[in-house]
Amino acid sequence: MSGDRSMLDVLRKSLRDSDLPFRDFVELVLYHPEFGYYARSESPVGKEGDYVTSPVLSPLFSYSLGKLCREFMSRDGDGVSQVVDVGCGDGALIRSLAGEKNLTAEAQRAQSFYGMDRSLGRAVPDANVRYVTSLDQIPAAAARLIISNELFDALPFARLVQRGEHLHELWVTERDGALDWTEHEADARYDDYFAERGIKLDDGQFADISLEWSALYDELCRFTTRGLIVTFDYGLPQSKLFRGRMRRFGTAAAYSKQRVSRDLLVNPGEQDLTAHINFDDLRRTGESHGFETLFFDIQAKFLLALGATEHELLKPIGEVSVDSADEGLALLQARDDAKRLILPDGIGADIRVLVQGRGMGPDSWRFQTELF
Ligand SMILES: C[S@@+](CC[C@H](N)C(=O)[O-])C[C@H]1O[C@@H](n2cnc3c(N)ncnc32)[C@H](O)[C@@H]1O
Repeated sequence: MSGDRSMLDVLRKSLRDSDLPFRDFVELVLYHPEFGYYARSESPVGKEGDYVTSPVLSPLFSYSLGKLCREFMSRDGDGVSQVVDVGCGDGALIRSLAGEKNLTAEAQRAQSFYGMDRSLGRAVPDANVRYVTSLDQIPAAAARLIISNELFDALPFARLVQRGEHLHELWVTERDGALDWTEHEADARYDDYFAERGIKLDDGQFADISLEWSALYDELCRFTTRGLIVTFDYGLPQSKLFRGRMRRFGTAAAYSKQRVSRDLLVNPGEQDLTAHINFDDLRRTGESHGFETLFFDIQAKFLLALGATEHELLKPIGEVSVDSADEGLALLQARDDAKRLILPDGIGADIRVLVQGRGMGPDSWRFQTELF
């Protein structure tokens, strides 16, 4: 028994020995097995929670991805293919994909569905989905469709700031009983990160970096000998992510009860911490493994190209009938939520989608259809 009763106890004990690099602070407050934000049994995702993600916001998301699953299968021949949702949270997306009512019995036999997450305490059991905590628990397959939504922006990240010629790293200390910032010379791996990519931060500019973006994507590439890797996340290509004037304070943010703040040290373990990802890290890692980049653009365009507007929620209002005022209001809300995913602002534009493929043939995919 550690005797710790809260995340603050854990932090205080750790800070008694030494200050903590902010990256390690994020690892603790998000993923501590007992008090971490993602160790809680109730899901933080949803309108009643801290923030909303696309699969939870509207069934339009899984409906569109269901179309991709079917297209994937139709190319796969006779082998058994797998659909794996990495960072599946409570499994909302993979459960809907596995339960797709349009999937034929034959298709259900030929496709198996996995939800993978480092903390599975919130995963909702489902007869059609197998949950695992690491990729090596998944058996071999002829081809794999790997999907992740807001996985990479949930990885622990370091916070860096340029001071003259020197790159500094932010650490966390305890001062007068409260958590506070302190600055150290940056770990050499972050100097290398910027040098290798030819990035020069302005004096006083902040940047938020995770070395795990590339490392985890590299794991996904090795796991996917043949297939597609489809990544939905908040992020930008590096030319925009580190642009001094726009991003002087980096992108780190805290989410709690649908509010966003820059106060990263308050209520440790009670708020989500996240940073926009550098999509070039993923793209380059995939390309170094022989993956071809098939799509990189905003979520709205991706879902529209997959055929999102064929969903019944987007039928002309005149064709819809309801039995009561409450049903009518619920339907209007559901239609608004569906539209949020495919409008080119908010979640439809802030989330980007990268699709890379290997060994799936030369034909183009429906998501590559030019719409405009
Ligand atoms: C922001 S939540 C997104 C959950 C879900 N995909 C959704 O869209 O609602 C991020 C999830 O990624 C998981 N996660 C973080 N790092 C992971 C890793 N290295 N491998 C697998 N899952 C991870 C977290 O436990 C958490 O459930």
